[in-house]
Amino acid sequence: MDVTVLSENTKLKNSNLHTEHGLSLLVEKDDNIVLFDTGGPEGSAIQNAESLNLDLCDVDAVVISHGHDDHTGGLLDFFKLNDDAPVYLKKEALNPHYTCSSNNKEFIGMDERIIEEYSNRIKFISETTEILEDFFVMPNIYQKYPTPTTNNILFSKEDNKILIDKFQHELFMAVKSIGEIDIFSGCGHKGIMNIVCSAEEAFPHMKIKTIIGGFHFQAGKISTFTAKSEEIENTSRMIKSDGIEKVYTGHCTGKYGYQIMKTILEDRIDQLYTGKKIVI
Ligand SMILES: [Fe+2]
Ligand SMILES: [Fe+2]
Repeated sequence: MDVTVLSENTKLKNSNLHTEHGLSLLVEKDDNIVLFDTGGPEGSAIQNAESLNLDLCDVDAVVISHGHDDHTGGLLDFFKLNDDAPVYLKKEALNPHYTCSSNNKEFIGMDERIIEEYSNRIKFISETTEILEDFFVMPNIYQKYPTPTTNNILFSKEDNKILIDKFQHELFMAVKSIGEIDIFSGCGHKGIMNIVCSAEEAFPHMKIKTIIGGFHFQAGKISTFTAKSEEIENTSRMIKSDGIEKVYTGHCTGKYGYQIMKTILEDRIDQLYTGKKIVI
């Protein structure tokens, strides 16, 4: 399986690719190509795909991890390039989402035109579904471990009430190979260990080999609001004791979170950056 980071918050110094706060990964396995999240609203994922000579026309399916604009921002541009790939997401992803700090309320939900103009492309997922051979979309996430504390500035609007976001709109993707599962997570708002144990429950005889995605130890773009070191250390220790071979993370994990994780996971962890290619 090949994974290309189409967009992430960072890039290598000499890279001409575009970056923005967000995440988009192109996942290729056998004959299937899946776009996991579409990056932020500046359209960096779509622009970078062109620079990297990756034709998004060939994408077979899109998976949207949750209804935040830093993961769904490239969808409108994607629809202009690709006429048929279905887009899998949870129905709740369409609810309005906000970040609220001090007296500021900022809309961070999906662009309404996605559902108004392209509803025929949208497929709602409410149960574990194999969307293509070995690609599973997993909408049910356990609540065994605590969720990231940095979620507490995130809200969603349901039944006309703005409430703290419980992330019913989040899903993850599991990709199966012989005896092993690789997990793709957007922001890990429901807690990365909850995602891991949901995958273990769904695939009881398989080893969880890799986790790729953000872990939300940083509150979105606010680099000064991070999870406490104990929270990051506990999660890192759990990942280690669970026997997960490799973690590729970035985006909302933040620099502070990554540095702490690195001290515990050492060579089991690598940084995501725009343009990175991973062979699993
Ligand atoms: Fe995010
Ligand atoms: Fe998010």
